[in-house]
Amino acid sequence: MRQGGRAAVACAAVGVVGAVGLSSADAGVRTRQAAVDDQRPLRALADRAGLTIGAAVAWEPLTQDPGYAALAARHFHVLTPENALKWAPIEHTAGQRDTRRIDDIAARAQASDQALRGHTLVWDLEIPGWVDRTDAQALDAALLAHMRATLRENRDRVVVWDVVNEALADDGRRAPTVLHTQLGPGHIAQAFAVARAEAPEARLFYNDYAVLWPGPKASGLVRLMQELQAQEAPVDGVGLQSHLHLVPEGRLDWAGIEGQLARLGKLGLEVHLTEVDVRVADLAGGQQGRLLAQADAVYRLVSLCRAEPACTSVAFWGISDRYSWVDRTIGPDDPLLWDDALQPEPAYFATVDALRGVPWRGCSDDLVGGGDFEAGTGGFVGTGGHLERRRGRAADGKHALVVTDRTETWHGPSVDATAWVSEGVDYRISAALQAPRGSPVALTLRVEDAGGTRYVPVAAGTATGDWLAVEGVVAVDLQAPVQAVTLYAEGPPPGQSLAMDAVTATVACAGPAHAR
Ligand code: XIL
Repeated sequence: MRQGGRAAVACAAVGVVGAVGLSSADAGVRTRQAAVDDQRPLRALADRAGLTIGAAVAWEPLTQDPGYAALAARHFHVLTPENALKWAPIEHTAGQRDTRRIDDIAARAQASDQALRGHTLVWDLEIPGWVDRTDAQALDAALLAHMRATLRENRDRVVVWDVVNEALADDGRRAPTVLHTQLGPGHIAQAFAVARAEAPEARLFYNDYAVLWPGPKASGLVRLMQELQAQEAPVDGVGLQSHLHLVPEGRLDWAGIEGQLARLGKLGLEVHLTEVDVRVADLAGGQQGRLLAQADAVYRLVSLCRAEPACTSVAFWGISDRYSWVDRTIGPDDPLLWDDALQPEPAYFATVDALRGVPWRGCSDDLVGGGDFEAGTGGFVGTGGHLERRRGRAADGKHALVVTDRTETWHGPSVDATAWVSEGVDYRISAALQAPRGSPVALTLRVEDAGGTRYVPVAAGTATGDWLAVEGVVAVDLQAPVQAVTLYAEGPPPGQSLAMDAVTATVACAGPAHAR
């Protein structure tokens, strides 16, 4: 599932860029068009990208939280009822079909010119309790009746069905569900035939999780789709749920994901990302950094779908973190595009950038803020010696941060990085440093967390007497809880003064989606 773990605390380039020639003035500057597009509905941007965009919606917030309902109505082409079309909620009691919720959701969708994705007809986890699972014939008859009724009731409003959900095991073989053991392996093809007969206009999908990246289950999915095609089952496409979980032990295999989308496309199938959300709670560090790791993942995923002709739809599994199934079933997290207060998060703007087909703003937006020291020293401190903000010749303006009266080599100007440093992100950090010619200079991150105090080298060089630009790319291992992360300059012998200016940090972007 993931590429191997990172070997060391710091990785990648630790180095010097050279004499001053800083590009930070360009960083983060966006065009007027980009500012306009930040305000547009996602579906308008998706139209231009040739993609369909969707989200799962829950009936309760749709009817009780107007802000949530407004986001649902505004941004998406297609709504997926998160639970309202599943068998158990619809037919809680045998023979009594309760369609009030799905009817209500459908009416709202229609009012907003939206279609519905039908989720899901055949899924062992949503078989009502009253169904006799020990009797194959009774199970088959009940499932068939449920399918037919659901398909008919929704014929005019569901344009695409997740006909069968989660029938594969982790090893890529059929999961030993009650449906598989009682009805046999042929029940999947039969389900598609029933769906085609009852809903001839709808597109029919097989939907599963943990099949986005290469592995036994992804290969099993390819085999299952080939089998269904060989049996001439009416399958139009495959839904990749895409519940992502970012963990400190390794990064997602983005090249592999790109390959898996292409592999499924080569079968002549339409590929939909059906349940995108990105868990970040297991990454230690600042919340801003965690949300950037998430935004990076969302940007890459949407970009890879946009670039693969077979991938035509991206849907998120919810709208606001406040109502995410992750909080309810796994644990507290912030996996979606809007926060608990319904404000857009970095993953929202990453989606905007991916739909627009422009580089992700996280690769250029400065995380330090005020690192040119023109606005004052507020928030900036030193690690020892005497700190001042000095007027005069500086790397990028009128002021620089200077430490004099240094009594240790590690005394130097510093900035607080606690909010934006987290696991799961590579950072490109740069600064201009000035010290007497020939003195060693370095940029370092000091980490104070549950693992103690550690030092991560960012960049190093030899001072020239003039301003020297240094830059490095680092990833940081952290142990929650994190007390503080400090970025500071150090190196020259005690007694020499050390000046810092033009401090910037961005997410360091690499890989198939960012390379475009
Ligand atoms: C989840 C819903 O989000 C929850 O509200 C419900 O309690 C359980 O199901 N894969 C799927 C979805 O295909 O149907 C699941 O939805 C999430 C995982």
